[in-house]
Amino acid sequence: MTQPDIVTVAAPPPDTRLGDGLRIGLFDSGLGGLSVLRALRQHMPQAQLLYIADSANAPYGERDDAFIAERSLAISGFLLSQGAQAVVVACNTATAMAVHTLRQRWPEVPIVGVEPGVKPAVALSARKRIGVLATPGTLASGKFKRLIESHGHDALIVAQPCPGLAKEIEFGQLDSPALRTLVETFSAPLRQAEVDTVVLGCTHYPFVAPLFQQALGPEVCIIDTAEAVARQTQRVSAGLAGHAESSQPSTRLWTTGSPAHLAQVAERWLGLRAEVSTLP
Ligand code: DGL
Repeated sequence: MTQPDIVTVAAPPPDTRLGDGLRIGLFDSGLGGLSVLRALRQHMPQAQLLYIADSANAPYGERDDAFIAERSLAISGFLLSQGAQAVVVACNTATAMAVHTLRQRWPEVPIVGVEPGVKPAVALSARKRIGVLATPGTLASGKFKRLIESHGHDALIVAQPCPGLAKEIEFGQLDSPALRTLVETFSAPLRQAEVDTVVLGCTHYPFVAPLFQQALGPEVCIIDTAEAVARQTQRVSAGLAGHAESSQPSTRLWTTGSPAHLAQVAERWLGLRAEVSTLP
């Protein structure tokens, strides 16, 4: 399979000293946030990273705001109890539905959200025809509507909900026939609309970016915002003092699903061998 031409919202080389002794927590409905974890590990190699996959409750994209807000509060509370000094909501859906609730609850904690990269897409698209792939929840949210109002003018934005896609990615098999069928189904309307730029608006989707590239065609530019989120996390944690006792950078994983599955996927997708526990 050829490597896709994925634009990662161009980054300067990481400053490897950044994050010394810092403890950063991040979470997603499941495995998708591993794409953000991968970028954070590159950009803040000296930080301790605490990752939670709420796989027992995935997908979030087809759940209501109240449920996602409740899960986001419980999970962030756990991360903070483990000494996290900043929280990254590594999920577009949870950001759209709950980031304001988290910021209200912990106004003193830097909380970084992720949102579909509409702004870089508009800057990059030659023909100003852009597709956005995301969960039904993200695309129906007021936050997405405001994002389009602020940055989507002067462009045709084709919002394509992808029900079932995150759930299929959760199985961990990135080349299954079921995944290929879903990717083809969601790519067809974007091909028909002749978009030249496509935003991956869900943190699960970078893991199937090669399938999207095949389905959309080699000339379509695919945008993933994980790098931009990692840089924003660097910026907001710049003023934080590291834990004196955490001089050893490390990554810890928790899940509400199967620890064995998360361990296997983290190793296969990120080359990461980490301690995995069940979220209490
Ligand atoms: N990875 C998530 C996102 O970025 C959510 C996928 C889901 O659970 O539906 O939107």
